[in-house]
Amino acid sequence: MDFKQIISHCKEYGFVYQSSEIYDGLSAVYDYGPNGVELKNNIKQFWWKSMVQMHDNIVGIDSGIFMHPKIWKASGHVDAFNDPLIDNKDSKKRYRADQLIEGYCDKIEAKIKKDVEKAAKKFDDFDEAMFRSTNGRIIERQAKIDAVLGRMNKALADENMEELKQIIIDCEIADPDSGSKNWTDVRQFNLMFNTQLGNISGEAGKLYLRPETAQGIFVNFLNVSKTSRQKIPFGIAQIGKAFRNEIVARQFIFRMREFEQMEMQFFVRPGEEMKWYEHWKEKRLAWHKAIGSPESKLRFHKHENLAHYANAAADIEFEFPFGFKELEGIHSRTDFDLKSHQELSGKKLQYFDPELNENYVPYVVETSIGCDRMFLAVISNSLLEEEVPDSSGKSSTRTVLKLNPALAPIKCAVLPLLKNHEGLVNASKDVVNKLKLNVNVQYDEKDAIGRRYRRQDAVGTPLCVTVDHQTLEDNTVTLRDRDSLEQIRIAINEVNKVVTEKTDMNSLLN
Ligand code: GAP
Repeated sequence: MDFKQIISHCKEYGFVYQSSEIYDGLSAVYDYGPNGVELKNNIKQFWWKSMVQMHDNIVGIDSGIFMHPKIWKASGHVDAFNDPLIDNKDSKKRYRADQLIEGYCDKIEAKIKKDVEKAAKKFDDFDEAMFRSTNGRIIERQAKIDAVLGRMNKALADENMEELKQIIIDCEIADPDSGSKNWTDVRQFNLMFNTQLGNISGEAGKLYLRPETAQGIFVNFLNVSKTSRQKIPFGIAQIGKAFRNEIVARQFIFRMREFEQMEMQFFVRPGEEMKWYEHWKEKRLAWHKAIGSPESKLRFHKHENLAHYANAAADIEFEFPFGFKELEGIHSRTDFDLKSHQELSGKKLQYFDPELNENYVPYVVETSIGCDRMFLAVISNSLLEEEVPDSSGKSSTRTVLKLNPALAPIKCAVLPLLKNHEGLVNASKDVVNKLKLNVNVQYDEKDAIGRRYRRQDAVGTPLCVTVDHQTLEDNTVTLRDRDSLEQIRIAINEVNKVVTEKTDMNSLLN
């Protein structure tokens, strides 16, 4: 499905709505509807179970969104959490300079892709790697991309705003909206939102809305290590809201101003961070595969330009409908954060290692994933249109959300064959009441049974139980499987077990 169809499906079926829609919306903020909140909670639960509860050496916390303003000074966010901003003087539109340049390269990449697809159609034994490395036009285009991105990365690393503008001029990049090339200079823009404490005026009372959850973990390192009796290596995890004043908010819930992160900081001995960095890269990739993301849609992207705190970093990229983009970051953050907090707070943030018999500031390997981006990855990977036989045996198109059953918002729908039949309705409600204790279940009596099945397919319900006249005679129901469309008859007292087994999250964790 294309991206527009995914967005409208999310709205129509109660997954995601634009925030403040009746007031024409608030850009880059979204609300989750009844099905969306269930799916999002399931993603969070899977992350929490696999990262925290399945590890003896990882514990969770839930820190405040507001923190002491000095935290953001120590972390480097006050001085360095900037994006390069550029305005178009004619359209008055504002852009991120690096995104304009990347967009220019994406267009060249799209041309390469087209050439590759064309050639692939011509030859049966097509070798893409060979074609890319020998076709003159592709080599030239790829060289152009590499040169432009190389220049951009250097300019970003050097914080050279003049050079960024020069690249935009040299590449003749125009405003995507108006086509104008009348640009302002590029300047740095800090992404943190701020607000004011009620009882302290001026700079001293300035508070920031956290742009990452990680700092809540660093400043609780001492508390947690003392109270949890964990020994290094150990991790602290948290799920929570983060806020960034993104200059360009595009691509639905991919880039939001208010979003949720699921982060884990893993504290290790200095010198052992690379081993753990590789360990967590592999572990996190396996997590994505377990949830059902195909290998072909996942890849690592190694950072060439490292953030000021990192000595190694990679993204797990996912192939969204608009191309491969960052879904999760794995960063080796050295001892930068703990050391900075130690210096600014004056409190020792050290660990006594009983095996080495020495004190040190631990190094940190972080895994950081956006919950909303994961939601988008899951939805865009699962939403399909497919041809299936209808009740008369003819082929018809259905929209189906082939979610992993453990993530599905509704695990089972219970459908009486007729809505005005007291016996069928009562028997259905009995099934619902029993299932409710274990899983999220929905009772639905409106419309013909075929339409009800399709409604459940569209929100990803893996199983439907239909209560019919035979149920009243022999206490059996039909159980319909979303993916195989197979319908089997089972005893009512089996339903709970079958639904729970099929939708249990444990199947993903083993
Ligand atoms: N603590 C490290 C950190 O915050 P990051 O790469 O800036 O690293 C981590 O962010 C993840 O948070 C990203 O991989 C992405 O999934 C998510 N994320 C970042 N900015 C976002 C935004 N504006 N909207 C939605 N998700 C975002």
